[in-house]
Amino acid sequence: MSSIEVLIEEKDVRNRIKELAAVLSEKYKDGDVLLIGILNGCVFFMTALAQEMSIPVEIDFMAAQSYGASTESSGHVLITKELDRSLKGKNVIIAEDILDTGRTLSLIKEMILDQEPASVEVVALLDKPDRRVNSFQADYVGFKIPNVFAVGWGLDYDQKFRDLTFVGVYKEED
Ligand code: IMP
Ligand code: MG
Repeated sequence: MSSIEVLIEEKDVRNRIKELAAVLSEKYKDGDVLLIGILNGCVFFMTALAQEMSIPVEIDFMAAQSYGASTESSGHVLITKELDRSLKGKNVIIAEDILDTGRTLSLIKEMILDQEPASVEVVALLDKPDRRVNSFQADYVGFKIPNVFAVGWGLDYDQKFRDLTFVGVYKEED
């Protein structure tokens, strides 16, 4: 048996995304913003963020895998989709569902910096600072959460529960 408990209610998630969108819209009002999401987890957060932003943004995606069908990170990050456009002159904002060990985002940020965009910042809906294995920090975080396994708003357990509209804690029970 397993269960899911509500950690962050839908209205709180949506309000926080609006706040992040307002901050980013002000900071980047001079334009040329490219939001880069990391599939699959980014989709619900990134699209909500883009729609709440009051400035035009372009979107693109990379894909990375670090977890398989488990709640423990494998420790390896596999890039399964790269960008196929130039980042020259773009103000890149990387959007991610959760910052956990920091391995995925530190690798992806390095790959993006190699392409010499005008700027790069990182926004993550959730952050589990206790789990970090490196010094990586996001520039903007929706919510800091404890070391639990979160689902919903793009976060999955074995590809399930990404579409939950609240952030929940997934628990295995016996
Ligand atoms: P990191 O490279 O360890 O920071 O892990 C980042 C990726 O691991 C995230 O993009 C998620 O796909 C996955 N992940 C980390 N923590 C959780 C969680 O609590 N629930 C679901 N997926 C998670
Ligand atoms: Mg992910």
